[in-house]
Amino acid sequence: MSKRLKELHDDITQSLRGIVESPRREAELLLMAYLGKDQLYFITHQDDRIDESDPRLLEWIEKRSLNVPLEYLTNRVSFYSREFYVDEGSLIPRPETEHLIDEVLKRVDATSDITVVEVGVGSGIISIVLALHLPNARFIAVDISERALAVARRNIAAFSLEERIELRQGDLLSSVDEPIDLLVSNPPYIAHDAPLQSNLSYEPQNALFGGEIGDEIIRRLLDEVYARRIGMFACEMGFDQRKKVQEYLKNFAVKSLEFYTDLASLDRGFILKGVHE
Ligand SMILES: C[S@@+](CC[C@H](N)C(=O)[O-])C[C@H]1O[C@@H](n2cnc3c(N)ncnc32)[C@H](O)[C@@H]1O
Repeated sequence: MSKRLKELHDDITQSLRGIVESPRREAELLLMAYLGKDQLYFITHQDDRIDESDPRLLEWIEKRSLNVPLEYLTNRVSFYSREFYVDEGSLIPRPETEHLIDEVLKRVDATSDITVVEVGVGSGIISIVLALHLPNARFIAVDISERALAVARRNIAAFSLEERIELRQGDLLSSVDEPIDLLVSNPPYIAHDAPLQSNLSYEPQNALFGGEIGDEIIRRLLDEVYARRIGMFACEMGFDQRKKVQEYLKNFAVKSLEFYTDLASLDRGFILKGVHE
């Protein structure tokens, strides 16, 4: 059975009503991904006939109607203008994490021969993009989740960075003994009881929740930065965690602490330098 693209677009929009925020746009994105075509093609081929009984299309519509994120259906995500593989084993990279990369690249010389450690590598996007911009840096990327590491391994191989990014499983820095020049992390930072949109329930819960208050992992990382005298720590955080980070750091002498905001002008992370007694 076939239908015109525009009719199928209307049908899918109906199925997504009340479930996703912009059903018409989401239906368009689903169809573009299914067809492997861009928006121009979509607009100019509205009368093309599409087989609406294709099992893959039916499965995508059914799962999207349950609010499974499109990225988990297509296994593709775009980050920092590059394509990455993603599945339910890792968090879907968020656009705001691009700011974390920008903030690091503003402060690190492109030729630096440094050791970078990432905690919570997830799909690998942060270490991979940084490795592409810092060709002389070595990377150790840690995650507590084997499933996340499997996603990162796949992306690292796709960019041929196996020699430069070493993956390790472990809790925070427990698997890292080497001196660290730069620690970077987008840790889980949501409080356990925070009300969340339903689409987040498909993402790994240990990628989202940072503890009862939310900033527990950030605080543990700050302790590590202090104990190991790590020169620079770049960290993403929740929009409402700036005060908590400042409060916690009152216990330490720091050379500089700079917060940065995202596109919505919300606090989104910080760069800490020179923690000492
Ligand atoms: C918010 S996700 C970030 C993923 C990826 N870096 C990104 O920005 O899209 C946090 C990651 O931290 C990992 N994680 C959670 N607790 C951890 C811990 N105690 N030690 C190491 N990794 C942890 C999770 O498995 C998850 O992959």
